[in-house]
Amino acid sequence: MRIPLIAGNWKMNKTVAEARSFVEAVQGKLPAADVVETAIAAPALFLQTMLEANTEDVLRIGAEACYYEDDGAYTGETSPRALHEMGIPYTIVGHSERRRYFNETDDVINRKVQAVFRNGMTPIVCCDETMGRRESGEKIHWVVNQVTAALKGVSPEDAAKIVVAYEPSWAIGSGTSASTDQAEEGCYLIRQTLADIYSDDLANGVRILYGGSVKPDNIAGLMAKNNVDGVLAGGSSLDENSFIQLANYQNL
Ligand code: PGA
Repeated sequence: MRIPLIAGNWKMNKTVAEARSFVEAVQGKLPAADVVETAIAAPALFLQTMLEANTEDVLRIGAEACYYEDDGAYTGETSPRALHEMGIPYTIVGHSERRRYFNETDDVINRKVQAVFRNGMTPIVCCDETMGRRESGEKIHWVVNQVTAALKGVSPEDAAKIVVAYEPSWAIGSGTSASTDQAEEGCYLIRQTLADIYSDDLANGVRILYGGSVKPDNIAGLMAKNNVDGVLAGGSSLDENSFIQLANYQNL
């Protein structure tokens, strides 16, 4: 049984005070974590405040990124060791914006996946896909390669805990989600890749999310697909009422 995961990715939005009031506002309005798990990945400088405001402790507070070394002379970076000490369970790794604007390569993403596991957290590994690649038929190759590269050297014990997100960059922030069939196809492809690298059993236990313009009015259709175990929502996770609706998609 894969527990659905409804995750938000705030990107570089909000302030500490706004982050606190969001977390306060969602207390008591999210489903039990063993029915539908909910998480918000936020900038590192909000995390302590969000943890303190999260009195009900149903919402998971995650990070959006971290570095691949635990400590050292890496000015401006976020330590995965420090995130773990705070009690952060999830860190997004390899978001397409990190790949595009901060030059994160498959090798860097693989090191980060290993660092997140080494520090007792779970990575939410994002795979992207451009429209050019989709139209040229290169998409299969591309998604398979990203998943394979991200998991290089990762043990089956760790890989069994991973969360992967299929996030076509042509759908991110565009207002138009991939169709439910396209989302299913991407998530299925990722599951098959995990089965090829590890085993069917492992692949069947891993949660695979779809991300890209997920909103309260399209989440139910996406979540109805067999291989879509959750969503990674950007814009629609910023507003507390919209996030509460996403989290309660089973009642929409
Ligand atoms: P979006 O972003 O929901 O605003 O399209 C999703 C993401 O980038 O994770």
